[in-house]
Amino acid sequence: MAFPVTRMRRLRASPGLRGLVRETELRADRLVLPLFVSETATTREPVEGMPSIERLPLADLVEEAREAAALGLGAVLLFGLPAEKDAEGSGAWEQDGIVQQAVAAIKHALPQLLVITDVCLCEYTDHGHCGVLDSTSGSPRVDNDATLELLARTAVSHARAGADIVAPSDMMDGRVGEIRAELDGEGFSDTPILAYSAKFASAFYGPFREAAGSAPAFGDRCGYQMDPANGREAVREALLDASEGADMLMVKPALAYGDLIAAVKRATRLPLAAYNVSGEYAMVKAAAAAGGLDERAAVTEIITSLHRAGADIVISYHSKDAARWLSEAD
Ligand code: PBG
Repeated sequence: MAFPVTRMRRLRASPGLRGLVRETELRADRLVLPLFVSETATTREPVEGMPSIERLPLADLVEEAREAAALGLGAVLLFGLPAEKDAEGSGAWEQDGIVQQAVAAIKHALPQLLVITDVCLCEYTDHGHCGVLDSTSGSPRVDNDATLELLARTAVSHARAGADIVAPSDMMDGRVGEIRAELDGEGFSDTPILAYSAKFASAFYGPFREAAGSAPAFGDRCGYQMDPANGREAVREALLDASEGADMLMVKPALAYGDLIAAVKRATRLPLAAYNVSGEYAMVKAAAAAGGLDERAAVTEIITSLHRAGADIVISYHSKDAARWLSEAD
């Protein structure tokens, strides 16, 4: 007996049918908006290469957070730009540091909005590296173990200011365990850790470093961030973070790493975030401005693909636009 011709197209014939069988849905509350708060800015400062993204004074930050909450976004992710930098990055853990003030101000104005803080030293060190330096032998290197305590101190200061989730992005070995122990010891055992587990040494962070003034003064980050050639190692990094007590994991960047979003999800089963980074945003914005692509369709496709790959959470500079488009579609 002959089989009937298989008609995959039967389920694509109308919007209703397509909706009925759609595997991946976008939701505003799964999107996270990164925000830059600056101690020195007196007005909103545009970020080169990232249209609509600004370095914000504290008062404007709270307004941006209010907009994020009104749009139903899942959380904001805060990056601080301090007035002063030093060799250790001590501004990162000061109790009245810029991020600590920012967290407190947002939680005061918008208690329901989840606030995630990026835990790293690179915005606070005068050399721009993500940890302290060991200069004892010839050329300076980032001292992994000496950095751990400083990161843990930073995470605790964020939790004390009211952060709902802390997100270490430094890529030092052992930092998740150290941060977990310190949070627990200081009474913050309910504060979850979102670990930037598989963070690659990527060309796509360019505009962020311009925004944060955090480009390394010498060398690069290849001594601690991952080689884009390595996928199995990304899974190992994720498993390590999980074993040290990470509650959620992250793959970063996102667009060229869909295979690893899927692999990390499969290997760990933990909630997973994909970070659609600054250079990826800049690329879409530039192409859209040049008339080369339909921005709404492209952004929707990108975010859908990251969820489809296995991300539960998407961190994106497009989040506000995406939430607006989603509410229009309803
Ligand atoms: C800090 C940090 C970076 C990003 C997030 N946290 C920069 C870097 O590692 O150089 C990049 C985010 C983006 O490009 O949007 N370590």
